[in-house]
Amino acid sequence: MDRSTTTTQPPAPHAAPGAARSAAPPAEKLRARAAEVLWANWTGTSTVPSRALYPHQWSWDSAFIAIGLRHLSPLRAQLELETLLSAQWGDGRVPHIVFNDAVPLDAYFPGPDFWRSATAGRRAGAPAPVQTSGIVQPPVHALAVWLVHRADPGLSRARSFLARLRPRLAAWHRYLLGARDAGGAGLAAVQHPWEQGMDNSPCWDGPLSRVEPAAPGDFRRADLDHGVPEHRPTDTDYGRYVRLAAEYRDRGYVDGAGPGASTDEGPAFSVEDPAFNALLITSEYALALIEAELDGPGGLHGSEGSAARVRCARARSLTETLVARLWDPDREIFLCRDLRTDALLTERGVTGLIPLVLPALPPRVAAALVRTACGPHFGLGGATRLVPSYDLTGPAFDLRRYWRGPAWFNTNWLVERGLRLHGERARADALREAVLDAAGASGFAEYVDPYTGEGCGARGFGWTAALTLDLLHAGRDGTGGGDLRTERCGHE
Ligand code: SER
Repeated sequence: MDRSTTTTQPPAPHAAPGAARSAAPPAEKLRARAAEVLWANWTGTSTVPSRALYPHQWSWDSAFIAIGLRHLSPLRAQLELETLLSAQWGDGRVPHIVFNDAVPLDAYFPGPDFWRSATAGRRAGAPAPVQTSGIVQPPVHALAVWLVHRADPGLSRARSFLARLRPRLAAWHRYLLGARDAGGAGLAAVQHPWEQGMDNSPCWDGPLSRVEPAAPGDFRRADLDHGVPEHRPTDTDYGRYVRLAAEYRDRGYVDGAGPGASTDEGPAFSVEDPAFNALLITSEYALALIEAELDGPGGLHGSEGSAARVRCARARSLTETLVARLWDPDREIFLCRDLRTDALLTERGVTGLIPLVLPALPPRVAAALVRTACGPHFGLGGATRLVPSYDLTGPAFDLRRYWRGPAWFNTNWLVERGLRLHGERARADALREAVLDAAGASGFAEYVDPYTGEGCGARGFGWTAALTLDLLHAGRDGTGGGDLRTERCGHE
């Protein structure tokens, strides 16, 4: 039975394992509650992740939000992505935050007065009309654009949605695969934990230990006005985030060490990350579908050298590179590569499971990833209700501290999609139910205790509500997993 159709009330906080599951609201009620969150977080042109904690527009949040919002309002979902991509820089980067100038400066740190995009980012082509951060976030955007188009192709065509966004998406991917290929092997590198999105993951403890934290008196954290300190990154982490961001800003947001510079002058933090690159590859497939739609006829099966065919071939070859560079056959998980040492980081984070979304993954790798997700390190289908953000047995595991253990809804949505893509239907169905139950019972929390589903961080969190809607929709129309399966690009 679909637990999301039971009628009991959400459990009290600190509920025992399984309690939240039996208390899930009915699907219709859950859908209405998720919609309320998205309406409450809508600003008129985009959606805030959380009114209090994150009062601006965030890049990967907006992509996940659009994927859910398309089921309520394809028009708003299009606007969400258009607003974000209109803040793209001349060099192709899509900034991780687009600031709302109606929000007080001290509502979020680091704000526009820290990033100074209009001045410090001038060389890299920061747009003048809006203020943004200067770093990026995972490239989920082409996937979101394609799925939003599919929700209402007539509206999309009438508004030239794909035609207007295609060049921006192409420039975004060119930037990541060009200026950000710091390792020279073809993958994109991140130069700040905020870029990868899993800010305080223990995967970053090694590379971050080389970064001298900014002095605590040099900045004031706004996040602690709204969040429980034990659920947030530490002050030392923040000091390091601030140092890395300020150094990048002071280099004019120019990537790499620059011509003739020694390697010591490059970013102190430079990492190839599995989830970031898996999402880029997924978005390459989506961009191929966008190109096929615009360039037809023949689409993906058209002429050999078509833009769509070339992009599909690149997505397949990037998958091979990802396996060659980041797969650890002994640990049976993808690892992060520290480009300062050219060594793999041995911590097991949920990032290492996300390549399961890739259709061209060798079957032996996909099967091994499923074993890892369901084994002692992540406990799926056993010890945990949702996939944790970090190894349950790892020395740095911390049940409630942001990305050091709690389960997040976007990563669980990705694992659910990946399980389904690789034929693990029963496991995907069970995870879908668990995600829906935990989202509803926690008030659409930012993240949850992976064992109990108890909510942590912000409530009324944008992507939690949006991905709940998407999973409800996937269940209703029977397409479960179809969204990624259609991105196979010649793998059928
Ligand atoms: N995740 C960061 C924060 O906590 C922002 O990107 O503010």
